Amino acid sequence: MLEFQNWIVWDALGFPVRLIMPAHYTILCFAKGQSRPLPGLVRVHKEVVSERDALEAEALEALAPGFCLRSSCLKSRRSAGVQDKEPLTDLWNDIHRVKHNSRRVDHPCLLPPQLMHRLISLFTERNEVVLDCFNGAGTTTLSAAQLGRKFIGIEVSERYHTLAQLRHAELSLGMDPFRKQERALSAKNSRVPRMPKQDYVILKKTLQLEVKRVAELLGRLPTREEVRRLARYPIEYYNSYFASWGEVCAAARNGGMSETRKTSTDQSISETQLAFGDLGG
Ligand SMILES: C[S@@+](CC[C@H](N)C(=O)[O-])C[C@H]1O[C@@H](n2cnc3c(N)ncnc32)[C@H](O)[C@@H]1O
Repeated sequence: MLEFQNWIVWDALGFPVRLIMPAHYTILCFAKGQSRPLPGLVRVHKEVVSERDALEAEALEALAPGFCLRSSCLKSRRSAGVQDKEPLTDLWNDIHRVKHNSRRVDHPCLLPPQLMHRLISLFTERNEVVLDCFNGAGTTTLSAAQLGRKFIGIEVSERYHTLAQLRHAELSLGMDPFRKQERALSAKNSRVPRMPKQDYVILKKTLQLEVKRVAELLGRLPTREEVRRLARYPIEYYNSYFASWGEVCAAARNGGMSETRKTSTDQSISETQLAFGDLGG
């Protein structure tokens, strides 16, 4: 018998398919037989001694809403000692879906390893068995292996099964199976045109914040012509750095990035700890 345990909402924006933007995935959790206290919540870590301990501990830490998920922003907040964590709830909005069309392994619907790390850390103990009946390129079984769990992966496609096996071999050689791959970028899985890789004279983030300033002046999102007239940076930067006008205006929309973010104690955080709502680019 299965016993209902948790209903988790993973807030991860997808492409609009029909009329409503699919903005979350539901993760329904059932226990086989009587449920037990969640291992990840009752586990007492003596101290973090191995990479595995660190991965497990990190997977169970939730980022407070509004903070940027980019690793550079995470790093700069860490070095500035900013408290950006909050207790884990059943609403997960700090894990971004895998962006295809970047240097990921060639599978059309990969799950992010961070999601699997959190689920496995939360629901299982070391040496327990993790089963994924639709293992694809192996995100689940690789995550399980990294966390010291046993694993079984089932996959109908020989191609994806071979890919998963290769990645497991890499992991056992000490390589990161989730690293970016050295392969040419393609537009295969994305409707968004990809910009060529380039060095930015002005940070894209700075350009977007300038558009936000213009939007505040006007009381609405600016047109390209208005940005040309009113922004402090030449319009050429916007033309060459951004794939769409939507991306230019990302920071100016509600929920976009802001230079300051009020904390619960009403302190504000400086630009180095920028809250950044749009992960595009
Ligand atoms: C959503 S993908 C899983 C991707 C995986 N989570 C990852 O990150 O690599 C679903 C996978 O299930 C496989 N699949 C579909 N039907 C199956 C079946 N009847 N038995 C086993 N695998 C199946 C597909 O080939 C596909 O790779």
